[in-house]
Amino acid sequence: QTYTRGLDFERPPLTFQADKWEELACSRMSADSKGYVYGSAGAHETTNKNRAAFKKWSIVPNRLVKYDGFPDLSTEIFGEKLVAPIAMAPVGVLKIFNPDGEIAATRAAAKEAIPYILSTASATSIEDVAKANGEDGQRWYQLYWPSREHDDITISLLQRAKKSGFSALFVTLDTYILGWRPADMDNGYNPFMRADRIGVALGMTDPVFRQQFKERHGVEVEEKMDTAAPEWMRTIFPGENHCWEDIKFLQQHWDGPIILKGIQTIADAQKALEVGVQGIVVSNHGGRQQDGGNSSLGVLPHIVDAVGGKMTVFFDSGIQSGADIAKAVALGADCVLVGRPYVYGLALGGEKGVEHVLKSLVGELELTLHLSGVKSVGKKDLNRGLLVREDD
Ligand code: FNR
Repeated sequence: QTYTRGLDFERPPLTFQADKWEELACSRMSADSKGYVYGSAGAHETTNKNRAAFKKWSIVPNRLVKYDGFPDLSTEIFGEKLVAPIAMAPVGVLKIFNPDGEIAATRAAAKEAIPYILSTASATSIEDVAKANGEDGQRWYQLYWPSREHDDITISLLQRAKKSGFSALFVTLDTYILGWRPADMDNGYNPFMRADRIGVALGMTDPVFRQQFKERHGVEVEEKMDTAAPEWMRTIFPGENHCWEDIKFLQQHWDGPIILKGIQTIADAQKALEVGVQGIVVSNHGGRQQDGGNSSLGVLPHIVDAVGGKMTVFFDSGIQSGADIAKAVALGADCVLVGRPYVYGLALGGEKGVEHVLKSLVGELELTLHLSGVKSVGKKDLNRGLLVREDD
């Protein structure tokens, strides 16, 4: 449609192309915000590898495949129908990119019928995001898991998410402490600490956290933001790890699918299966946590061989286009998460910008499959048979 109609928001003079929108968005953002979204861990080795890994696989098209209409992109995850195997990755503090932050992003998600994963580090409350996502919106909740001494806060977050209609729980395992991020450190910037800028927008809306803060300091969070922000940050990034045994606690307190985000080894994927969670996200956090790491795509097929079909396998880190999505699904992912691309859409065009990015990714995936003679995203049609490795 955009070929004929054009876009209906003031846009960059470009059709969506992730690298161009990244460049443009970064040129328009404050140095702090750019450092936060573009800046990765260390020398960006992991991030660069994430993206480069897609180039090692090429799509080999089939010719003269006759079928009616367009390829079927729909799929089912945990009994929910998805229009395409795509969801929005959890991204924290979106208000630093646009004043409407999570509200704009989650509205765009609902409009495009793409599931929205809300971050614990959100700048908007769980309840407000649910309201903006609406009755028909598909929403999942991402947990930054407080240490066990704060189980009461964890329970409060889970109960609020459940009550607000978030149907699946993504537990991020790679960020109990923030990575070595030179851009943020050079800028002396940590969005979670900048209480003066974004105030209660840090997600310090949790009633249990607020009550405990009042007991400790005798004042409300808003009256002592400089103390509250670092305390909240230490709560959700406790600096210490949980263990596999602890998963039981989440299973006791969450009625619904649990997905472990940040898995990069076969051994951990198998442990996830053993402890009885419903899914994993093969992810290295977009290379934002550990530098010198592997590409996330590189480990995907091996992990799929070990646990695929027995649990739901999500994939993220490095997806920039519809062709990338086709490759990840062909390598066995049941659904992909997209992070930075929609953040750049948000920075450039607010809600419309996010909508445009989502629409473009779905559209490009559809065309990619159409031109490859692939009838659906189902495993019988979209599988490794579509790919060759360029370095083989
Ligand atoms: C993230 N990511 C992330 N993950 C998470 O579990 N909770 C969070 O709050 C955040 N916050 C966040 C902020 C920003 C600015 C970025 C770019 C990323 C990681 C995210 O969910 C996802 O794993 C990566 O973004 C995937 O890589 P790409 O798509 O950005 O290459």
